[in-house]
Amino acid sequence: MEYKNILFEAAEGVATVTFNRPKALNAMNSDTMGELMDAVNRIRSDEAIKVMILTGAGEKAFVAGADISQMVDMRPQPALAFMELGHETLRMMETMPKPVVAAINGFALGGGTEIAMSCDFRFASENARFGQPEILIGLIPGWGGTQRMARLIGVGRAKELIMGGDQIDAKRAYEIGLVNRVYPLDQLMAETKKFAAKLARLPGFALKMAKHAINFGYDLSLDNANRLEMECCAQCFSTDDQKEGMKAFLEKRKPNFKGC
Ligand code: CAA
Repeated sequence: MEYKNILFEAAEGVATVTFNRPKALNAMNSDTMGELMDAVNRIRSDEAIKVMILTGAGEKAFVAGADISQMVDMRPQPALAFMELGHETLRMMETMPKPVVAAINGFALGGGTEIAMSCDFRFASENARFGQPEILIGLIPGWGGTQRMARLIGVGRAKELIMGGDQIDAKRAYEIGLVNRVYPLDQLMAETKKFAAKLARLPGFALKMAKHAINFGYDLSLDNANRLEMECCAQCFSTDDQKEGMKAFLEKRKPNFKGC
């Protein structure tokens, strides 16, 4: 697929996808969402790619939401299709067996916060701003915000942001656990790439099992979730990387992981 609204680059095991409509503050229309879905599929199936980074072009926005100009005259059925496309894409990314790091370089509003919440890690620049302002335009979040935000920061805080519609800055987002780390804008990509490079060197199958156990265990009963964890942990013993990791520890040397 030829991309018009995103940039795609891959190097040394890390693929970086950049939303590239800076004049519209990287607002997400259905074409852009379709391109993101294609990129996620590509990363998922390319064995050379171990980690995905998601960011926005320009210094002002990660994604300022779903594209309002595309939605303004929509009837319910096309609106449902637009929401389904977003949900399908974000769930695909969220459950992809490789880590995804969001580098949030400015406004992440509405669909922007929702995209960020479906990543495994959120690193933000100091100028980043978050929120679910849909209520201010007669809407509610449609790409998982009501569900992922409540799970991530708690029902009370999620209701405050979603029903109040206010924006919060990166410092507040860090305080409430919406983001993992905050950096000055000029350091954001370098720090994100450093973290991604570290992940790319770690045992890929164990990373996959960790993500799987957390994602799919979260909504189970504790007994069933613990059973899922045991199965995932046991599966790691099928890999050379587990043998190498433990031998290296016992032999007091650095492990040489091969990713299998
Ligand atoms: N959709 C379409 N275009 C958008 C956009 C969006 N979500 N956000 C910004 N833009 C466009 C603006 O229309 C403007 O275009 P023009 O230059 O052609 O007029 C351009 O980006 C720059 O935006 P502003 O002039 O508004 O920039 P600002 O610095 O004054 O304000 C902002 C920045 C606070 C982010 C403001 O643009 C804004 O409030 N954007 C909308 C945020 C929003 O409501 N997001 C939720 C969308 S609904 C949603 O996401 C539903 C869902 O869950 C799936």
